Amino acid sequence: MQNRINDIQKNFINDLNKVITQQDLEAVRVAYLGRQGFTTEIMTELKLMSVEDKRHFGPICNQLKIEMQNLYQAAQEKIYQQEQEILTKNSTSFDVSINKPGQLQGSLHPYTYITQEIENIFISMGFSVADGPELETDFHNFGALNIPADHPARSESDTFWLPDMQRLLRTHTSTVQVREMKENEPPIAIICPGRALRNEATDASHDYMFMQIEGLYIDKDVSVANLLAVIKEFLDKLFGKSLKLRVRPGFFPFVEPGLEVDAECPFCTTGCSTCKGTRWIELMGAGLVHPNVLTQGGIDPKVYSGFAFGSGLTRLAMLKYHITDIRLLHSGKIELLEQF
Ligand code: FA5
Repeated sequence: MQNRINDIQKNFINDLNKVITQQDLEAVRVAYLGRQGFTTEIMTELKLMSVEDKRHFGPICNQLKIEMQNLYQAAQEKIYQQEQEILTKNSTSFDVSINKPGQLQGSLHPYTYITQEIENIFISMGFSVADGPELETDFHNFGALNIPADHPARSESDTFWLPDMQRLLRTHTSTVQVREMKENEPPIAIICPGRALRNEATDASHDYMFMQIEGLYIDKDVSVANLLAVIKEFLDKLFGKSLKLRVRPGFFPFVEPGLEVDAECPFCTTGCSTCKGTRWIELMGAGLVHPNVLTQGGIDPKVYSGFAFGSGLTRLAMLKYHITDIRLLHSGKIELLEQF
């Protein structure tokens, strides 16, 4: 019996030393400590022994079993530690820059792309980029722009007024004109891209929130020819080709003369769905700054003149990127952004 006990002990330690994985260890446990393992076998044999032998070998067998269980537990902990080390080592060598298929890529909104492009075009012509508040006063949105009290644009149906009826969400970016004139001496050459808000029903080309781009140039002897040269340079660069302009009379209380500027359709030669077969696209309102507006801005209209223009930046983005419904631009749809 003693030899058997010695053999079991020796073999158990040998087998335990060869263990590498949890599966190896489990096999050793089953063989030695399992219900049909060597320790159970010995205990069964012990039961058949004489009382004297039982008294001698009983404690030895029990001690063997306890030692084997302790060794087994120590081996289990060691393997667990080794496996954790391997996991940690592998995880620190992860390549976080790997572009997994199906992974979402961030992208900028088309408004951001077109705004950056337009800003660069105007900066290259010596303009700077101005900003103004979206929450405005009646004065900057209307009064300073020569919009009389009875003008329809002041009516509640077009304007989001605050409850105090003094402040409003700007209905156009022309609000920056007087602010810029008050803060700067001529020559002034600025553009202001930004949000405008109008209390209007939404359809494919109108929304209650949209983007505009305002331009203002004030100096001595500024003419319509200067205005058209700047607009043409801007549109040619934006659409990547030389475009003819068409100028029609238009009424805006803050400019005189007031103009509507159309450009030859950049997308066709004989008429298409974008220009609705007309070959012309309406792009902006413009004109020479009204003397009353210059005066409101603290600039002497006898010395200085200037031009202003205002275009739907939303409309420019829709034309440039062939987006047919304004609601797509404002939907926050990832499918739209993924195309940019
Ligand atoms: C103006 O807002 C003038 N401030 C423009 C201007 C500036 C004229 C300087 C002269 C001198 P208008 O209301 O036409 O003008 O708007 C200009 C452009 O904004 C329109 O051509 C259109 O492209 C865009 N726009 C107007 N309302 C909406 C709307 N609800 N949704 C989307 N775009 C709109």
